[in-house]
Amino acid sequence: MNTLLQDVWILTPVILLVVTPEAATSWWYMGAVGSSSSSSRVMCNNVPGLVTRQRQLCQRYPEIMHVIGQGVSEWTAECQHQFQHHRWNCNTLDRDRRLFGKLILRSSRESAFVYAISSAGVVFAITRACSQGELKLCSCDPNKKGSSRDSWGSFDWGGCSDNIDYGIKFTRAFVDAKERKGKDARALMNLHNNMAGRKAVKRFMKQECKCHGVSGSCTLRTCWLATGEFRKTGDFLRKKYNGAIQVVMNQDGTGFTVSNKRFKKPTPNDLVYFENSPDYCLRDREAGSAGTAGRICNQTSRGMESCEVMCCGRGYNTARVTTLAKCECKFHWCCAVHCKDCLETVDVHTCKGLKDGTWNDKT
Ligand SMILES: *[C@@H]1O[C@H](CO)[C@@H](O)[C@H](O)[C@H]1NC(C)=O
Repeated sequence: MNTLLQDVWILTPVILLVVTPEAATSWWYMGAVGSSSSSSRVMCNNVPGLVTRQRQLCQRYPEIMHVIGQGVSEWTAECQHQFQHHRWNCNTLDRDRRLFGKLILRSSRESAFVYAISSAGVVFAITRACSQGELKLCSCDPNKKGSSRDSWGSFDWGGCSDNIDYGIKFTRAFVDAKERKGKDARALMNLHNNMAGRKAVKRFMKQECKCHGVSGSCTLRTCWLATGEFRKTGDFLRKKYNGAIQVVMNQDGTGFTVSNKRFKKPTPNDLVYFENSPDYCLRDREAGSAGTAGRICNQTSRGMESCEVMCCGRGYNTARVTTLAKCECKFHWCCAVHCKDCLETVDVHTCKGLKDGTWNDKT
């Protein structure tokens, strides 16, 4: 049976291309396609799942595409940081070649988060590249000039204010292009979460100032606006994930209403989703789930990372692992630190798979 399937795969690639939903790919894949070495035309044609408008932007702005491509690993890392103790850990399922498996085709809370953080990540990457002078098309915010006032008094705009409006504008044009083509519920949901992600970055812009004047008396201040660390956006979106609002399409298909009238209506800052999440216990490509077999769990914790919750009741294996670590470090005047090498032994617990050897695939 298995070999037969493999034969079909090899012999009829054209038909399979039609059957395999192309829509399971997106610009998310840009991080995996090398963009520096190849020409922009080649690169843009190699990213599967770009819609025409995205391909046009890709060919016209190869430098920005390079920045977006590099940003993918940053926002995936942030996503993985936020969900490291959870069954769904933002695993990229990269052996599948499709980032996040088919999560992109779902409308779960986790999809909502990935859409939001990816869109936020693009804003962040472009804005930073503008300020660092990496792009010809943008630089510091040209509107932050002259003098202004805040609660402390008057100040002069100086230095480089991050041009977040440019970052947001380009991200909206590029990332949303795919969703604007479709008019279905999922497109609306993705647009909403993309926007929530972009707004989250803007929320953590902060004004930084420097004092001038006699002995730092601050009679003169120059200030600029800076995007905070991306971690703050990640933390914020993670809270929004916890409070994400389940919605249904309204009658005329132009927007959402809350699925449960007792819940508040979503604001533009909230994440919205349609579909209940699977438990993510078993590997299930259709749901974008890698399963928890082999994941490290915490034997003493009572939270999400506990072995009971993480392993879904399948039990866990324990391995005694010995590592070499620095210890008994002493500071010597001046200035050196000398340490000993010690062997440290810890127990590492990892979740078991299914007993019957079906290798944890949901069937
Ligand atoms: C496991 O959980 C406990 C309690 O929450 C915590 O103190 C400990 O540091 C955790 N261990 C590891 C290896 O993360």
